[in-house]
Amino acid sequence: MSLEDDFCPFQPGPGQRPPLMGGREREQESLRLAASGLLRKDAPRGTSAPVLVTGPRGNGKTCLLLWFEDALQEAWRKAGMGKDLQVVRLSARRLSGLHAMDALSPNGWGHLLRKGAESIRKAHPRANPIPPSDLTPHDVLRAQCRGGNAYALLIDEAHTLDVDMGCALFNAWQELAPNHRIMLVLAGTPDLVDHVNDMNATFASRSKKLLVGRLPPAGAREALVPPLEDANVRLSEGQEREALAECQEYPFFIQVWGEQLWLSAHRAGTTALSEDQFREAMHEAATVRTSYYDERRAELKKLGLSAVASAVAALYGKPDDRVSEHKLEYAVRGALGDKATDGNVQQALTQLKHCGLVWPSPQVRSDEEQRGRRWEAGIPSLMANIRRNIPEPAGQQGLRH
Ligand SMILES: Nc1ncnc2c1ncn2[C@@H]1O[C@H](COP(=O)(O)OP(=O)(O)O)[C@@H](O)[C@H]1O
Ligand SMILES: [Mg+2]
Repeated sequence: MSLEDDFCPFQPGPGQRPPLMGGREREQESLRLAASGLLRKDAPRGTSAPVLVTGPRGNGKTCLLLWFEDALQEAWRKAGMGKDLQVVRLSARRLSGLHAMDALSPNGWGHLLRKGAESIRKAHPRANPIPPSDLTPHDVLRAQCRGGNAYALLIDEAHTLDVDMGCALFNAWQELAPNHRIMLVLAGTPDLVDHVNDMNATFASRSKKLLVGRLPPAGAREALVPPLEDANVRLSEGQEREALAECQEYPFFIQVWGEQLWLSAHRAGTTALSEDQFREAMHEAATVRTSYYDERRAELKKLGLSAVASAVAALYGKPDDRVSEHKLEYAVRGALGDKATDGNVQQALTQLKHCGLVWPSPQVRSDEEQRGRRWEAGIPSLMANIRRNIPEPAGQQGLRH
């Protein structure tokens, strides 16, 4: 058997490219549209609004950024626009400390100097290769999109963006965007919008918001079944239905189930799984899921949110339950007991969004337009796991559906 035969196409893990990115057509379309001003030479400048991509962990934000980076390069190449596009994709963690300015300009200082950044020239008339410490993001961004060049900055994990750096970047964007080809995309957990809002409310309100939640059912099937078939593993109709039901349209689980189904077939040297082989794969995948939930519960515990999480989980009886913000706040308030100041309740909600336990649902149903956005579970089966493992706080039972 060759090494190639040993290659499992599924990639469970943060930032891993899946064999097939299913169900993201709407998000891809939005990003393409947001980039159209950047790509057309004759387009009026200042047409690309900043984009905030948010969603609970494991839903594919990084994956979408990776796709977008490739798509931009490809579109640029097809449009025959030469080398005057710079796409920089990085984690916000690289935008702090000594090398932050380097991270914004991966081609280095020489590259910026050739592009004629006035302030760099002034500070370093002899083109000293040591990065000047007094450079600002404005200097670097302006140098990057000088002379009609295009610059796209894609910041991942942006909920960790340093506040001073964020303020400087957003101010720079606001000054440069009207006359330059510049695009800014930030991806992060659902608390990102609050974080950006605290730094620059105008920037936050002008941004296009892209909410990346679980996949639509057809997209989930597309992400699991064709890649298995491409690897010569065929599921029966019943097996397909059962595996997909376990994944709950959550992209990370699709990769976990895909990997275990592939492994089981690979071990047995078969293309169609017997009942025993299928059960083995389901069991292994569920074991991975259980450890994932253990980690999530430990994280909630560390934040002092076990009781809050349990009160919230009690509100989500069925997988697709959606809860009003009012009801959620009420449950959080009850669980916090005598610590329930307005500030603490909001902080707990922000932390729950960050952990991906609940978040404002991307879809607003027509019957909900008047009543406000509903909050859905980040992963429905995590709610059930919490209900099983953390006792519900006393006096909260009356809040349930
Ligand atoms: N649309 C998708 N279809 C299939 N798998 C996906 C999709 N999006 C993400 N994944 C997989 O889900 C996992 C989590 O994706 P990632 O981009 O790291 O999520 P996030 O950045 O939101 O935490 C990865 O294993 C990735 O391969
Ligand atoms: Mg990510």
